[in-house]
Amino acid sequence: MTGMEILRHVVLLVHLVGFAVLFGAWVTQLFGQRRIMRLMDYGLLIAGLAGLALAAPWGLADGVEFNYVKIGVKLLVLLVIGAILGMGSARQRTQGATPPALFWSIGILTLFNAGIAVIWR
Ligand code: HEM
Repeated sequence: MTGMEILRHVVLLVHLVGFAVLFGAWVTQLFGQRRIMRLMDYGLLIAGLAGLALAAPWGLADGVEFNYVKIGVKLLVLLVIGAILGMGSARQRTQGATPPALFWSIGILTLFNAGIAVIWR
């Protein structure tokens, strides 16, 4: 492996940490008060920044093709999750609770993004 390939894998690891923070925070709340946490914003931010860095074709092994449609879908889903986090935490502040539809959407869309990352080649 070249240095660039190793660096790309380090960024991928950071991307996965962001996913773990976002999804892990959501699962604790699934079995808790079902509230939106600040930690979810941080997880999304980490996954998003590392994802953007990975969206450029650098440090790839020879012959690896890039699926830009998939990356576009993931970016769109990430923006939707960010919007839901914003709406949900506003509702929490004004009405004391996050509507279940918003809470569930966060976990489902996060898992959906991880799913297409792994399954759609
Ligand atoms: C909640 C949001 C996201 C989640 C949960 C997520 C999850 C994942 C996971 C689990 C992987 C590892 C897949 C593998 O290596 O087989 C991955 C890889 C990757 N992600 Fe994300 N991701 C998210 C957002 C994004 C965004 C916004 C972008 C780019 C704009 C992005 C770009 C990539 C790229 C380029 C890879 C490298 C492997 C590949 O090309 O499939 N991700 N992501």
